[in-house]
Amino acid sequence: MVMSPLNIVILAAGKGTRMVSAKPKVLHELAGKSLLQHVLESAMALQPKQVCVIYGHGGEAVPQAMQQYPTQFVMQEPQLGTGHAVRQAMPHLADDGKTLVLYGDVPLIQHSTLHQMQQAGEGLVLLTVDLDKPTGYGRIVRNAEGDVQRIVEEKDATPELREIKEVNTGILLAPTHELRVWLSQLGNNNAQGEYYLTDIVAMAVEGGVAVHTVQPGQCWEVEGINDKLQLATLERVWQQTNANKLMKQGVTLVDPARLDVRGNLICGRDVEIDVGCIFEGEVSLGDRVRVGAYSIIRSATIGTETQIFPYSHIDQSEVGANCHIGPYARLRPGTKLANEAHVGNFVEIKNSEIGQGSKANHLSYIGDSTVGCRVNIGAGTITCNYDGANKYRTIIGDDAFIGSDTQLVAPVRVGKGATIGAGSTITQDTPEGELTLSRSKQISISGWQRPQKRKK
Ligand code: UD1
Ligand code: CA
Repeated sequence: MVMSPLNIVILAAGKGTRMVSAKPKVLHELAGKSLLQHVLESAMALQPKQVCVIYGHGGEAVPQAMQQYPTQFVMQEPQLGTGHAVRQAMPHLADDGKTLVLYGDVPLIQHSTLHQMQQAGEGLVLLTVDLDKPTGYGRIVRNAEGDVQRIVEEKDATPELREIKEVNTGILLAPTHELRVWLSQLGNNNAQGEYYLTDIVAMAVEGGVAVHTVQPGQCWEVEGINDKLQLATLERVWQQTNANKLMKQGVTLVDPARLDVRGNLICGRDVEIDVGCIFEGEVSLGDRVRVGAYSIIRSATIGTETQIFPYSHIDQSEVGANCHIGPYARLRPGTKLANEAHVGNFVEIKNSEIGQGSKANHLSYIGDSTVGCRVNIGAGTITCNYDGANKYRTIIGDDAFIGSDTQLVAPVRVGKGATIGAGSTITQDTPEGELTLSRSKQISISGWQRPQKRKK
């Protein structure tokens, strides 16, 4: 089947006064992405020919924040209603095909629902829902045969019409050519003195254009955000939905209400996640991975059977299989742990590769380093990678043993199988297989007296 070209218009010109924020409403975040980003991503998934975002005066931050999307931005000033808003987009849209109207503050509209609208038939397609409390919404008025006749806004509705439970979500799909004609004929002779997009429904009926209705897969898809309370409520709905999906895939969540996924979390079999964890960006957890409480993992892959103990932070890192991380470990961007590596409490690793079976279990900073296999890095070891201007690498050969409280002043290389005595400051390369230490010899001074406090 050849689909006719699709245009998408996203209305985002509202001030969002009730957010009580300097930031435009549609830039507030839900699950780690701005409201508008959610809508744009759903829009892009439909492979539209043209996407047009209508933004408001003072909302310049909106186009700036969305630069990565191939989108047309059109300012609507003044804002004279939803019909007036869509009209601003029309000069940018080709006449063939259809136009879908979405809203920057209705973030969770799902692809499946939009696809269903595309399949609903020729003519005008409205997305509607039945609400027990329809107050505030435009009502869908049908005739005796059940055919849609028009939409009446709450403020313009008679008491009888206000009884109607089927309401307009605002989202609609219209043939572009007809939409252009209808919009040009809109008036504003109504209770709010606005150009109502909803008035095109009666025009369609008048012109003999079929009007179809589709219901969303889930009611939260059409929830709009007007204030911080609604934002937080919808965030919880989204998180719970995501948690349910993970549990259905077999992931054990100790408490699904205490999980936050702000991106995409992919889990293998028998993964267990304790409470309070946050996953950001693309994260994948291998089979049997366990994530301890209050860990934060961002843009990372974690290998099979690796154990992450509580309060660990992992950012832009690759972790192999059977590793032990934490509690209180911090893997910063560019960390690569081979299989069976152990990284313990208060160890920070950045831009470094740690070889198979190597261990840094206590209180260390490993930066810009290449660590071989089976290396033991003693407590308190620090790589001094920065001279205040430049960064240098530390290279540690396989089977090396770095004594506790060692400073490795980069650039420096520790040979394979080398041992570094505890408390050393290593400024030069150390030979393979030998003991190197840089501290002064221990001496005892016989007869030495501690200073005494003098009596006044
Ligand atoms: C609109 C619908 C109503 C529907 C309801 C669902 C109309 C006339 N009414 O009413 O039938 O039940 O949404 O929430 O369409 N916007 C602009 N420019 C404008 C006006 C609005 O960009 O000039 C944007 C707003 O930012 C907002 C959206 O359009 O995101 C809806 O506008 P709003 O004024 O809130 O419409 P409602 O009165 O809620
Ligand atoms: Ca409103």
